[in-house]
Amino acid sequence: MLILLIFSVIILLILYIKNKYFTLRDHILGLSPHFLFGNVIQSGFVYGRSRAQIFEEYKQRYGDIFQFFFGPIRLIVVSNTTDVQHIFTHRNIYEQGYLFTEQFSVLFPSGFITLTGSKHKRHAAIAMPLFRRARIIDNFDLIVDCTDKLLSNWRISSSQHIHCDIVAQCQNLLLQIFGLISFDYDLEALDQDDPSKNELTKALHDFMSACELVLVAPRILGVMYTKLSRRHRRAKSIITRYIYQMIDNEMTASEESRAQRKRTCLIASLIASLQEDEEMEAKKSENEKKGLSRAEVLQEMLAFMIAGFETTSTALAWFIHFMSKYPHVQQKIKEELIKTGGEQDLTLNRLDSLVYLDCAINESLRYAPPADGTMRTLIADDRLPECGIHLHKGDNIFIPFYNLAHDERYWSIDPKLFYPERFLNEDKNHHLYALIPFGSGHRQCIGQDLARFELKVIIARMMQQVTFIDGGPTVNSGGHITSMTILPKNVGVGIEFA
Ligand code: HEM
Ligand SMILES: *[C@@H]1O[C@H](CO)[C@@H](O)[C@H](O)[C@H]1NC(C)=O
Ligand SMILES: *[C@@H]1O[C@H](CO)[C@@H](O)[C@H](O)[C@H]1NC(C)=O
Repeated sequence: MLILLIFSVIILLILYIKNKYFTLRDHILGLSPHFLFGNVIQSGFVYGRSRAQIFEEYKQRYGDIFQFFFGPIRLIVVSNTTDVQHIFTHRNIYEQGYLFTEQFSVLFPSGFITLTGSKHKRHAAIAMPLFRRARIIDNFDLIVDCTDKLLSNWRISSSQHIHCDIVAQCQNLLLQIFGLISFDYDLEALDQDDPSKNELTKALHDFMSACELVLVAPRILGVMYTKLSRRHRRAKSIITRYIYQMIDNEMTASEESRAQRKRTCLIASLIASLQEDEEMEAKKSENEKKGLSRAEVLQEMLAFMIAGFETTSTALAWFIHFMSKYPHVQQKIKEELIKTGGEQDLTLNRLDSLVYLDCAINESLRYAPPADGTMRTLIADDRLPECGIHLHKGDNIFIPFYNLAHDERYWSIDPKLFYPERFLNEDKNHHLYALIPFGSGHRQCIGQDLARFELKVIIARMMQQVTFIDGGPTVNSGGHITSMTILPKNVGVGIEFA
């Protein structure tokens, strides 16, 4: 009798939860979700289909607005540019996405991405100036040198060799650059003999892999992982030790050398805004606080790495893949380089005159945006102007960059074509919100100018020296892997030196 009673209570509870959390709501179309799993099994996400591919199919099936259940998280996916514009331009209703504020805060509760309100403002006031153009271009030589190092590694291997580890190579390059720009520190990521021998490099890699998990797993699992995983705890403590050491070194350096380093190195600038008396600042209300605490400097560095490293290296890996697939585009980039100075050293002025290269980078970011979308969470009820749907406080919106960039309605030339020239002609005045690889509005990417600069310098340097050759239909078939970013699954290219 008792067993029967318990049994019925459990059934009722499940029905209640199913009804409340795992049921289509608000007259928005979508596929009826499974209990606990939502749509992730039905859609093939668990079998490796990417969000970009799934949302493309769902948009065709359900139209410009539909709901998708990522397990217990219900996303409302919005694909009409008018509604997208409305969302990005109403910051008083659409706040930073829950995924960033809740999931990421497991890893760094005080990093830029996870903050909102006046705390975000305090951090923004300190972080924004680090990404101004004048500071970014100071990194020119450093980026060229790192690229040359990778090129010289490639030069050693046989010209017949098909490189199938392009994604990893791009990651090493961008990690090396990150170390120098951020800490003025050589992470030895491009050293050929066992890159894992560097303790900090390995710790940063380990920390990144925790992020992939924390981003997709329910928060409670993420919390458990960070507390229980020895690998993660070890990585965190190594990174903390190094960064605190850097802070201490900086504090004891002379006034003059600090002023000098502040100009180029991110952590040095953050340290310049370190609070004099942390305990006193901690007692103040958020509106009165100034500067950053040591823990906040650490977390800011981690946030920059998470946001800036894999995104940029993924963009580069896709670009190399496209070059191997579209030799005439590659040829045109090379011709433009020759026209503007040939074999001579790359300079900043020359870089600015490479317009076709800009188009090719834009086309690559359009065709394969590293981040397939972003999120916003409603902090008040609202109604979307175009589709007329009523939304509620707490709803989670997903803006699918990939789908907007591939939507035939927003492009004059077939978006399925990889065609950089579109940006010179027919699609020059494409819809503003059809191409937003760095997001938009008050939470758009603060590193976008740096990322574009890094990509342009690296690619121009590579195109001066090598040609990427298609490694064949199987090893170079593209495809998607969903990690923190959408990575190409198969990139296999030959590398020919001119
Ligand atoms: C190709 C490379 C990159 C891509 C595709 C990219 C993309 C993005 C996207 C889509 C967002 C969310 C924007 C939104 O919600 O509207 C974002 C935010 C952010 N990105 Fe990037 N990013 C890149 C490189 C970088 C770099 C190099 C850095 C800095 C070192 C960086 C730092 C950040 C930060 C701190 C945020 C959070 C901003 C906030 O929450 O207010 N990103 N990025
Ligand atoms: C979507 O947005 C465009 C403007 O970008 C608008 O003209 C169109 O009517 C909207 N609605 C639908 C259902 O396509
Ligand atoms: C590339 O895209 C950016 C951002 O949308 C834009 O400012 C720039 O003008 C574009 N460049 C070209 C050559 O189309």
